[in-house]
Amino acid sequence: MRVLVTGGCGFIGSHFVKRLVAAGEDVAVLDKLTYSGNRANLEGVEHAFFHGDIADRAAVSQAGEGCEAVVNFAAETHVDRSILEAGEFIRTDVVGTHVLLEWARATGARFVQVSTDEVYGDVAPGVSSREEDPLRPSSPYAASKAGGDLHVLAYVRTYGVEAAITRGSNTYGPFQYPEKVVPLFITNALDGDSLPVYGDGLQTRDWLHVEDHCAAVELVLREGAPGEIYNVGAGHELANIDVTRRIVELTGADPSLVRHVADRPGHDRRYSLDCAKIGALGWRPERTFEDGLADTVAWYRDRRDWWEPLKAGEYREYYRRQYAQRLR
Ligand code: DAU
Repeated sequence: MRVLVTGGCGFIGSHFVKRLVAAGEDVAVLDKLTYSGNRANLEGVEHAFFHGDIADRAAVSQAGEGCEAVVNFAAETHVDRSILEAGEFIRTDVVGTHVLLEWARATGARFVQVSTDEVYGDVAPGVSSREEDPLRPSSPYAASKAGGDLHVLAYVRTYGVEAAITRGSNTYGPFQYPEKVVPLFITNALDGDSLPVYGDGLQTRDWLHVEDHCAAVELVLREGAPGEIYNVGAGHELANIDVTRRIVELTGADPSLVRHVADRPGHDRRYSLDCAKIGALGWRPERTFEDGLADTVAWYRDRRDWWEPLKAGEYREYYRRQYAQRLR
């Protein structure tokens, strides 16, 4: 099967491309190579590469030539950036998804939309979100992803596009851009820099290893039913402050680097997913957070050549806007 993977040079997308290629599939990658897309993530991996934007019809039809399916990882994904400026999130996550859906409608290609647990918004203690729950996005990022998801469902219903949606929880592992909390705190700890914990640090997230996430998306590509949504979470719920403490231990950093700073506006306290539906398809997470995090720390320790250049240039300006005031 030839599959179009959009955002295939990003964090989760590049792991997914490697997985499909290892399974013997023919992969075309369409990637805009924004700040978080990196050709080096696919070094040595056999694939066809197209540099372009999912919101550009011509780029999509060129990259999608001969593809039977598309898996859409292309997205603006960082909540803090969406709070600073939401325009690109709407363009890529809503308009880009629409353009891909139009292409799938015209060609009959199957479609998998890679979405997020953030579309459900805050979840009360003891409750887990189910796929049919209402969407209550809190951030501009989450609202953009919710907009994309709703268009996918509308295209299934109105035009019969064969699309399914996955909603994953917080994903971590090698090759993650160092703006997300796990790689940010690991690389800061390795450099002896502050670890800026938002607010009280008691917000909880469900930590999913990138390989487990990709296994679930592959299963939905192969066996998911059109119009269905599948939650994907590992059930490893932890408070941010506990994740931070583990990173401090694993890196051997000085605990005084941990700083409680001004909270993220609109910060969701808790996400939690009911994953019975993808479980019924046969998916189970295979990595414990303990092992996955230790391996991830070891990877960042070994791969300064990968992340040090990313923490220069544009990143410095972003870091200053996001953290200078908070850390003053
Ligand atoms: O839940 C799935 C989502 O996980 C994905 O859809 C998003 O694309 C991905 O960015 C991630 O969203 P989060 O906002 O949960 O991830 P982030 O790594 O930014 O933050 C994780 C938690 O850590 C969150 O409660 C905010 C907190 N945090 C984050 C940063 C960057 C801090 O306390 N300090 C920080 O500097």
